[in-house]
Amino acid sequence: MALERTLSIIKPDAVAKNVIGEIYTRFEKAGLKVVAAKMKHLSKQEAEGFYAVHRERPFFSALVEFMISGPVMIQVLEGEGAMLKNRELMGATNPKDAAPGTIRADFADSIDANAVHGSDSVENAAVEIAYFFPATSVYGR
Ligand code: PPS
Repeated sequence: MALERTLSIIKPDAVAKNVIGEIYTRFEKAGLKVVAAKMKHLSKQEAEGFYAVHRERPFFSALVEFMISGPVMIQVLEGEGAMLKNRELMGATNPKDAAPGTIRADFADSIDANAVHGSDSVENAAVEIAYFFPATSVYGR
């Protein structure tokens, strides 16, 4: 499997629950390395830009409002098959469908407040990493 990078966001609900450390431990135990990270309170413009692909979806406004409701923790994860590995750790989008032991099963309350974001393809990961991290800010680049 190839060494990859993916973008992860710990969303405002999980930051408010004070579980950043617990989520980082899951990344580390799964062999994912944090190679860049920052805490940020997103502006409306930043959140809308990040989720631009979902602009026409009925939940777009709710998603943006939620993502700017408090600070988020944004990180680049690196490892063998990092994109898929992170998606497995996260669990299904709706925590009701998330497998036991996944981040969303353990920390998310609803589909609107679902604890974490993870890039859904290697191609999107490159775009999302570039959105939040200038090339020079990622370790090892
Ligand atoms: S996709 O593109 O078909 O895979 O869409 P999906 O992954 O289901 O959802 C994309 C992001 O939108 C969020 N989402 C919602 N937010 C609020 N309300 C509702 N009903 C809702 N449904 C989906 C979902 O958490 C995804 O956010 P990210 O940050 O990408 O995980």
